[in-house]
Amino acid sequence: MTSDDRLNVLVIGSGGREHALAWKLAQSPRLGKLWAAPGNPGIATVADLVPIAVGDAPATVAFCRDNGVDLVVVGPEAPLVAGLADRLTEAGIIVFGPSAAAAQLEGSKGFTKDLCAEVGIPTAAYARFRDAASARAYVEMSSAPMVVKADGLAAGKGVVIAMTTAEALEAVDACFEGAFGAAGAEVVVEAFLEGEEASLFALTDGVTVVPFGTAQDHKRVFDGDEGPNTGGMGAYSPATVMTAEMTERAMAEIVRPTVAALAARGTPFQGVLFAGLMITAKGPELIEYNVRFGDPECQVLMPRLEDDLLDLLYRCATGHLAGAVPRWRDETALTVVMAAAGYPGEPKKGTAIGGLPAAEATGATVFHAGTALADDGTLIANGGRVLAVTATGATAAEAQRRAYTAVDRIDWPGGFCRRDIGWRAVARESGSD
Ligand code: AMP
Ligand code: GLY
Repeated sequence: MTSDDRLNVLVIGSGGREHALAWKLAQSPRLGKLWAAPGNPGIATVADLVPIAVGDAPATVAFCRDNGVDLVVVGPEAPLVAGLADRLTEAGIIVFGPSAAAAQLEGSKGFTKDLCAEVGIPTAAYARFRDAASARAYVEMSSAPMVVKADGLAAGKGVVIAMTTAEALEAVDACFEGAFGAAGAEVVVEAFLEGEEASLFALTDGVTVVPFGTAQDHKRVFDGDEGPNTGGMGAYSPATVMTAEMTERAMAEIVRPTVAALAARGTPFQGVLFAGLMITAKGPELIEYNVRFGDPECQVLMPRLEDDLLDLLYRCATGHLAGAVPRWRDETALTVVMAAAGYPGEPKKGTAIGGLPAAEATGATVFHAGTALADDGTLIANGGRVLAVTATGATAAEAQRRAYTAVDRIDWPGGFCRRDIGWRAVARESGSD
């Protein structure tokens, strides 16, 4: 390969997901230069950091032009929903990630529910409301449990599982009173689905769609799935409930029809589609779409991917995904999120973190999320979710053991983690589930 074949890549974002993406991109034989904006101290070990805020489209376009960036990989959803991919495309810059129109799959829950209804995609029965009185009337008519959702992006906080009608009414009022800001100006009320949750990822160039791994995350903050919801306290891949047959059903009944519908509307979806599924007694049903990789799901997909990530993302971004069949190592990857005390409320910032080399000496990989360097070079906590300690193993039990061995070598009194990540898969392996 000549040096001309090499691709210069800019990753947008600063979390554990972006560290995992940069870590995997850095292994590509096709990679030229790798930058991350704004990145974090972990990402800095594999990429040059660029001080551009996520979502600053003019500065991002200018940087790409000045530095010969061949591919931009957008990590988080907010800049996609706000049109960063559109601004880059207009400037002639190749980007992995959907347009604002296609990113509505995550940006508006009502948009996605309407699309599902139009195409016949299995999902919970629902109704959309723009005022409290009509939402309240619908809730009064429906039977609990039900789910009340702010329509827009609410950083994972805009969903209330109401076990009673009174709770649902309270959630409706909270939304319309501005609890989730503009995201709550419209409300979706939907039926409660019962089953096991799983995440399915798919890469698409807008036409070709290929499955890109499965995972299960742990949203509640405490062991035993107790306490408030978080962005995710840990994950493992593959999700055992997503057998080859279940994956194919979800692709055929949910993901492919979605991509086809958006293409038919003239707003093709290009990037990674992350389907949050409920595996019900009837089969897979869509809970929600995300238009980017999961965090921390990405941290367990990347260690299992055998193929060149850069090649796959570039093929998506340039319309050449046809024929791609991503291959995965036949092992389980498991990540344990270490969060700052106080998360998901007010996380305590600035506490010192040690022991990362000792943790990585076990063979684990420590992805950085909310970290920063103090003036004296000490690694400190700088967010809610701070580290994602990731290990692989022949079984979920082995991956779990290895991940916690590494966690136990991290010296961070200011942090905490769940001790039961992967419990479902481990229980299944031991036949006790
Ligand atoms: P979302 O932000 O839409 O993924 O919702 C957050 C979480 O709420 C999901 O991961 C589920 O655990 C739960 N959830 C959302 N919608 C439903 C539903 N219709 N039935 C049951 N649980 C749901
Ligand atoms: N871990 C869930 C998400 O990334 O949305």
